[in-house]
Amino acid sequence: MAADRRIELVPGGPSLSRLVFGAWRLLDGGATRDADAVARLIDISAGLGITSFDHADIYGGYQVEEAFGAGLARWKGRRDSIELISKCGIMLKSPQRPENWLKHYDTGAAHIAASVDRSLKNLGTDYLDLLLIHRPNPLMDADETAAGLERVVQAGKVRAVGVSNFTVPQFDLLASRLPFPVVTNQIEHSVLETSALTDGRLDHAQRLRYAPMIWSPLGGGSLFTGDGQREHKVRAALSVAAAETGAHDVATVAIAWLLRHPARLVPVLGTMKPERLAQLARALDVTLDRQQWFSILEASEGRAVP
Ligand SMILES: NC(=O)c1ccc[n+]([C@@H]2O[C@H](COP(=O)([O-])OP(=O)(O)OC[C@H]3O[C@@H](n4cnc5c(N)ncnc54)[C@H](OP(=O)(O)O)[C@@H]3O)[C@@H](O)[C@H]2O)c1
Repeated sequence: MAADRRIELVPGGPSLSRLVFGAWRLLDGGATRDADAVARLIDISAGLGITSFDHADIYGGYQVEEAFGAGLARWKGRRDSIELISKCGIMLKSPQRPENWLKHYDTGAAHIAASVDRSLKNLGTDYLDLLLIHRPNPLMDADETAAGLERVVQAGKVRAVGVSNFTVPQFDLLASRLPFPVVTNQIEHSVLETSALTDGRLDHAQRLRYAPMIWSPLGGGSLFTGDGQREHKVRAALSVAAAETGAHDVATVAIAWLLRHPARLVPVLGTMKPERLAQLARALDVTLDRQQWFSILEASEGRAVP
């Protein structure tokens, strides 16, 4: 059965495309993308049904949002046909932030407000569909962070809030102080990083009925470049499943493996190549059966389930 093209993060809540475009690598490797090239990428992605775009204030050393915003300004589509996601809370040492002499976290209300204003300006929009607290902060004062999030929502600058890389207790703490739901936890998970299956994070998502967003769904590329025994075994298992399901390649099956999980995972794709985006979009039509799914888990963990 094909997966739905869109997903409500929580019942009756905001919806995203089931596959999300991750903008982290937009300016990687010295790529200088002019506004027209970015506009083309947005158009191709949206045309594939990948209408949600994942950002963070810090991406590209605080420069990706502005480059993306320049492309968005040239793009002919409507703002309300896409979703823009951003994050805040990590303070990088960067020429763009000379005041940061040390990498640290700030989840205070003043930083949330300032970061949202900068993201809106850089992206050239007047609202974010979703704002995430990027990482758990040992100095997070839950009352203050919640008040900061409430304020940007009340101001109409942010439509929904979530977290990223939070443990279950950290999620629950922040959620306990908010009058609206925390709609996602964006976490690392893939055929090569499976700890979320057993450490309670995906169980928590099912219990509260929020859809987790998944970063580095292809191991950040290590699925293709990794030379260890594990990567070789996982690639072999993915190839078998690709042949059995008629999927185009191992990458598509690795995404289909995520989509098969009942917690309703939302993979955030990191490729900047239109042809790869198109390929991965086909994962929505690939359904792994139970034994195919477990054969990939077995290859990843190096043992059969008990
Ligand atoms: N919340 C967080 O803390 C956090 C952390 C990291 C990332 N993220 C988000 O997650 C997104 C995705 O992360 P990611 O970039 O690590 O994801 P990924 O999809 O696991 O990895 C993408 C990388 O794999 C490479 N790749 C090689 N062969 C590929 C193939 N056949 N198909 C697709 N990709 C292939 C891509 O290169 P090409 O471009 O050459 O295809 C790219 O460098 C980011 O953009 C960001 O939005 C969030």
